[in-house]
Amino acid sequence: MPSVFIKTYGCQMNERDSEAVAAQLVTKGYSLAKSESAADVVLLNTCSVRDLAEQKAINKMKNLVGTAKKDRPNQILGYMGCMAQSRGKELIEKLPDVDLVLGTQKFHRAAEYLDELLAGKREKIVDVEAEAKSEATIREHLLNGSAKTSVSAFVSIMQGCNQYCTFCIVPYTRGEERSRSIPDIVAECRQLVSQGVKEITLLGQIVTSYGKRGFGRAELPLGQDAQQRVPTTDGKSPFVQLLEAVHEIRGLERIRFTAPHPKGYDDDLVEAYARLPKLVESAHLPVQSGSDRVLKLMHRGYTRDRFLGIIKKLRRAKPDIGITTDIIVGFPGETEDDFEQTLSLAREVQFDNAYIFKYSQRRDTPAAGMPDQVPLKIREERNHRLLETVNEIGKRKYDAFVGRRTQILVEGPSKKNPARMTGRTRCNKIVVFEGAERHRGQLLDVKITRAGSFTLYGDPAIVNL
Ligand code: 5AD
Repeated sequence: MPSVFIKTYGCQMNERDSEAVAAQLVTKGYSLAKSESAADVVLLNTCSVRDLAEQKAINKMKNLVGTAKKDRPNQILGYMGCMAQSRGKELIEKLPDVDLVLGTQKFHRAAEYLDELLAGKREKIVDVEAEAKSEATIREHLLNGSAKTSVSAFVSIMQGCNQYCTFCIVPYTRGEERSRSIPDIVAECRQLVSQGVKEITLLGQIVTSYGKRGFGRAELPLGQDAQQRVPTTDGKSPFVQLLEAVHEIRGLERIRFTAPHPKGYDDDLVEAYARLPKLVESAHLPVQSGSDRVLKLMHRGYTRDRFLGIIKKLRRAKPDIGITTDIIVGFPGETEDDFEQTLSLAREVQFDNAYIFKYSQRRDTPAAGMPDQVPLKIREERNHRLLETVNEIGKRKYDAFVGRRTQILVEGPSKKNPARMTGRTRCNKIVVFEGAERHRGQLLDVKITRAGSFTLYGDPAIVNL
């Protein structure tokens, strides 16, 4: 029985893809190795969104090649995911010891290709072709990784992105937007809930565009395509219709989703928060910049005002909603004045947390060729200044929880200290507490006793008294 080790870089979509590949391989008789050195096959699931992520995966592969040559001559090494897709056979040309390059629409072929490589039937395989319906192939789960039930699961609802933000490589690595059908997604969610899952996060590169381009168009004759398309009904977008359908599942306690796009964040979605109790008070809404001039250069499709308007409506619907964002500093042409508008937006919105990225030139994207690229030193300095502001606001927000009672869903032992348990509030804050395995999967009321850096500490016993 061959064993496989998968190392994942990048976003939650990548984590989900790796899980689906691992589950597929287990079904086909592979075992999951505990480390790279113990594995017959090592796969790196890669990210291309910034240069640093690519460099990490390239250096990692160089190390693997070095040790494999010396200690494990028969080990199969492969790249999969976004960098595999965007660089293709170039990866093997640069590192001839790599055996497999598997693109983002080919994850479901992993077992077949690895079988061929392990049997010596083929020496190298590169497959980065587009494949119709590949969006519906990310469906297998590894629920019992450590023989314990998973409480929270991720479900991939779509692939690709058609927004073409000028900084972003995703449309080139993930392809055109393609959505799975509502019944297909609901069936997967139902199955998960029947296996003990309490919380589902619906995943896609741009979930607010879900279903807007129909389903699996490439394979359907024209007439059928029209029937398969989910139209907006009663003012509800296909994504909100999906949320409603998932909400119906009995036994499911919480629904999350990531990532939406402000452009598609319409009133029907804001209203869904007020209407659907399982949809928790949490939104990750990438803003990228606070300057209208930069937003336009980025091709984001909204203004600062429109973004602030969405936040206002969300807070009106759910005053306790946790709001996080992504911000890029040092986009080409960003002036000190533009940057200060981003700082002021962060202060105005009071994000619970923000993920800040220094702009990174990605090949073949329009922004890579724009004039006035911002020097690294300035990007670093802006990154630092914004981080200070975001952390200060975050600290205040987290401190405000101390003394409050809040509901958490217990996920399992804390990674940092397995003697403690960890759960999550509805507004997506991690709470660590002295608990036991029997709490896993429970919705528990805790009193927050202390706030750390983007972590809360709670005490269920106080509430039980
Ligand atoms: N440079 C820096 N950050 C980027 N992101 C996407 N492309 C780039 C780039 N070229 C960031 C965006 C996005 C997050 C996932 O990564 O903020 O929301």
